[in-house]
Amino acid sequence: MKKTGHFPVHTLAVGWLLLFHLPANGMPGENSLNILPIPENLTMRTGRMAIDKDFDVVIRCHNTTIIEEAVTRFLGRLQKRTGIPLASKVATNPEDAEFEIHCMGNEDKVQSIRTDESYALEITEERARLSASSPVGVLRGLETFLQLTDIDTQSFFVPSVKIEDHPRFNWRGLLIDVSRHFEPVEIIKRNLDAMAAVKMNVLHWHLSDDQGFRVESKVFPGLHQLGSDGKYYLQSEVHEIVAYAHNRGIRIVPEFDMPGHSTSWLVSYPELAAAPGPYNIERQWGVFEPCMDPSKEEVYRFLDAFIGEMAALFPDEYFHIGGDEVNPKQWNESSRIRKYKERNNLAENHELQVYFNQRLLGILAKHGKKMIGWDEILQPKLPESIIVQSWRGQASLARGARQGYRGILSYGYYLDHMRPASFHYAMDPLGNEAADLSDDEKTRILGGEACMWAEFVNPENIESRIWPRTAAIAERLWSPAATNDIESLYRRLEYIDGELISLGLRHRTLYHENIQRLAGTMDVRPLMVFAELLQPPSLGIRKRAQTYFSHTPLNRLVDVIIPESKSAREFSNLVDRRLSHSSQGPASEKIRESLRLWMANNAPLQPILDRSYLLKEVQPLAALVAELCKCGLEALNYLDSRQIPPQSWQEEAAALLTHAEEPHAEIYIAILPPIKKLVEQTTITLQ
Ligand code: ACM
Repeated sequence: MKKTGHFPVHTLAVGWLLLFHLPANGMPGENSLNILPIPENLTMRTGRMAIDKDFDVVIRCHNTTIIEEAVTRFLGRLQKRTGIPLASKVATNPEDAEFEIHCMGNEDKVQSIRTDESYALEITEERARLSASSPVGVLRGLETFLQLTDIDTQSFFVPSVKIEDHPRFNWRGLLIDVSRHFEPVEIIKRNLDAMAAVKMNVLHWHLSDDQGFRVESKVFPGLHQLGSDGKYYLQSEVHEIVAYAHNRGIRIVPEFDMPGHSTSWLVSYPELAAAPGPYNIERQWGVFEPCMDPSKEEVYRFLDAFIGEMAALFPDEYFHIGGDEVNPKQWNESSRIRKYKERNNLAENHELQVYFNQRLLGILAKHGKKMIGWDEILQPKLPESIIVQSWRGQASLARGARQGYRGILSYGYYLDHMRPASFHYAMDPLGNEAADLSDDEKTRILGGEACMWAEFVNPENIESRIWPRTAAIAERLWSPAATNDIESLYRRLEYIDGELISLGLRHRTLYHENIQRLAGTMDVRPLMVFAELLQPPSLGIRKRAQTYFSHTPLNRLVDVIIPESKSAREFSNLVDRRLSHSSQGPASEKIRESLRLWMANNAPLQPILDRSYLLKEVQPLAALVAELCKCGLEALNYLDSRQIPPQSWQEEAAALLTHAEEPHAEIYIAILPPIKKLVEQTTITLQ
């Protein structure tokens, strides 16, 4: 990976976002830029280049297919944004072109972790120049240019800047589980567009699990015919997606989870299993017993032929074999496997899994592939060429690095845990446990992946679970470690959200459609106001609440509401502002206004809930939210008037808060934590 040059005296490296100033000419300062992820080095200059009907582009590159296509998309997006006809503005007079793109390197046939993504972008009042040593660097720079595009009363423009940028980590991925719920091709493509917009470079495609096998296999057609309920990708569609991703500088790493999480394979091929079967596609969520039998030679013959077929379909050098959560029950109960372990001196089941992985390594190598797998594959005896994906913690990632293994972090990046963007943003692959690794060991940590497990997502809500939160993870993995201004992050997430919508992402559209569906023919606004106060819980809470099947509809309010609402976050910030002062201030009035509005919302909300079968279950929740708002108002009144609340009020408030902490209709109240702070403060300050 090439590090771009050194920087002029005015460069504000790394911490530039923390410097707040407006240049004397009134041009926007760095802190008002909408770039996400933030570049490694950015220097603001005075002046700007206008984008008008004369804007055109010249491409000076060796091998330009991927760049020409990217420039066409770039011009289309710029035209969509500005309304200026630009879509075919490749310069007729190259010497005068306003935007010059330079790239001396050739296109990698298959991109890899070694692909150079660095670029430099220099914009003066007259022209802009983007240079990169690889076409993928050009793609990254084009995204930055688009994010710099701004408008004021005079014109569209890009500010004069000098940017030299390159990613902190080379592996910046998103896992999409299409086994638990299938996602059609257009959704995968939309996610690839969004990933490219925030400079992510790996789509980890979780293609098989207990609940579904999702790729057409010509060698073993039973896999998709009996393992998918007819929901799988044709090989032609896989080719199409691999090419689509390649054109956006994104690698596709396929995962076929084995030896556990493999029920869907066994429906047609029970002979691979450690117990006779028969097997059916798993319809529930969890860790199940069916498991491949590592003691059978026919399993390796099957995997050799299968991996051979898939290796040709997926050109990436890495092949993900899963390896997580092996349930040992079938292995323990098989006399054949017990004898095999004895004969081969394999005392423990994990040694049997190491043996299985060693055989897999040989098969992968034969087909030109390297192994990546989950934490559980990390055992001595496996070569250092493997990559370990850590879902169990930063400590296990660091331990692997100390032992010589390369790894990526997914712990802390599970999108199905429904944590806020700020939570994921704080999770650094080189933070905490990895802090005392040697420099050499640190280079083994290649990056990370956001994970969208699909027990509770389907085509209607997957985009709203992935975006825009994943953009925060994209920035954590690209930008310098010192980039950690939360306010700036949220401001830029809002901008990027708009950009994603412009790209065709449907997270907002589907949210509105779904809320309207729930409201039926009634005025949807009270339900929108209510939904903004709520938050879906993590996977575990939902699984404990009731028995779910893969065919259970995901059409309730809990499936629609988004993981992080702006209203709730802003309310929480207001409460923090109020509590950082000892007396009433402007924040108090705003808090009061919000709480009154939400209480008053309950009356028009009720008829909507009454008329909907799907919304009946949230009636108690609506009443609880109204009560909670009332309690928050009372707490604020006590605080502002510096009165001690009576004991009976304190007791009632405490009971209400405890009750509100539980999920209702599997939903959490997003404004509960700030209201709880207000209530608790009444007794703390007044003691
Ligand atoms: C995992 O969450 N079992 C990788």
